[in-house]
Amino acid sequence: MTISSRVDLHALLDRSRTVITSLQEPNGAYPASPTFSAYRGYCWFRDGSFIADGASAAGEAESATAFFDWCAMVIGRHAERIRDIVAAASAGAPLPDDRMLPARFTFAGELGVDEWWDFQLDGYGTWLWAAADHAARHDLPVERWADAAALTVDYLLSSWERPCYDWWEEHSEHVHVSTLGCIAAGLEAAARSGLVTGERADAAHAGAERVRDRILASGVAEGHLTKWLGTDAVDGSLSSLIAPLGVVAPQSGLAAATRAALTTQLENGGGVYRFTADTFYGGGRWPLLSCFLGLSYAAAGDEAGARRLFAWAVGTATDDQLLPEQVDGELLAPERRQEWIERWGPVATPLLWSHAMVLRLAAELGLVGAAGGVVNAGAGARRAAVAS
Ligand code: BGC
Repeated sequence: MTISSRVDLHALLDRSRTVITSLQEPNGAYPASPTFSAYRGYCWFRDGSFIADGASAAGEAESATAFFDWCAMVIGRHAERIRDIVAAASAGAPLPDDRMLPARFTFAGELGVDEWWDFQLDGYGTWLWAAADHAARHDLPVERWADAAALTVDYLLSSWERPCYDWWEEHSEHVHVSTLGCIAAGLEAAARSGLVTGERADAAHAGAERVRDRILASGVAEGHLTKWLGTDAVDGSLSSLIAPLGVVAPQSGLAAATRAALTTQLENGGGVYRFTADTFYGGGRWPLLSCFLGLSYAAAGDEAGARRLFAWAVGTATDDQLLPEQVDGELLAPERRQEWIERWGPVATPLLWSHAMVLRLAAELGLVGAAGGVVNAGAGARRAAVAS
């Protein structure tokens, strides 16, 4: 498959940087999607951390640093709440879900006033992981985020076993394997990078091991990772545990079986569904999930597989080089699309997370570099480079 001839890869990669950096708030917050009704005015820890990771890998180091500064500001602002959560958990009387930290905050770092499926733990692990990787990639000190990292580690250690909403803000009754993976990656990275030190680093490292053990004990079926503990279903987010999070070794049998299950059950022509029962906007394919699966192929040394997925993701760009959250066509539940359009308007476009994942996979494929700029010489060469 080659990328569609209407896609100018150079322009799309440039546009992706610009979308991310120009829409970033002065205090570092990234809007999930500037124009989409239900997301307007909010920054998610999950989206933002992966956006910062993509920006960092593509050479936008200042943008990524500013985002982690925003995370630290938000955590600091809610320090009392976190201490209450940790104290209650250690006293054996955990606080209810609505007292936990939300998935998203206003740009100013406040709790939103709109109803949302708020209790989600994954983003708190993901920001630690992304900040540590960013610091290592650009040789930056991590002390400026140390206080916030300490609070975040305490929060995760106190609460990681709890069921909560998943990446898709669904099924709060389950413990989700992708959520556990983000937590394990964050705890491990915090300990390894010096974001936390001393006894807290030891506790973070030990906590990461326990989370990993839980995944292996209850989050694996038929040799592959599962959507939540105790099912055999899969979820498109699971490839993130292989790469970029690195919780599952890319060459392992578990990684191979997970890639195979995702490819067989959720990939369609290079596009990746979230899960088989998805009905959101009719259940379309998400370019950012193609990039996650592509990263897991690249990590295992299967560059052709990675390029195939990258090519599909790139091909979802609109004529003005904007990437959507998901695309129409080949829907899992076409009869459910219209109700979402009536409720929230057209699919979120641009979605900053989609742009970031294209940059992240482009970096992995050597098409952009962490020192900035586009790597290959001519647009023709770049186009050829993504053909497989
Ligand atoms: C997705 C979340 C995402 C949010 C903002 C939701 O529709 O399910 O994963 O964090 O949009 O982009």
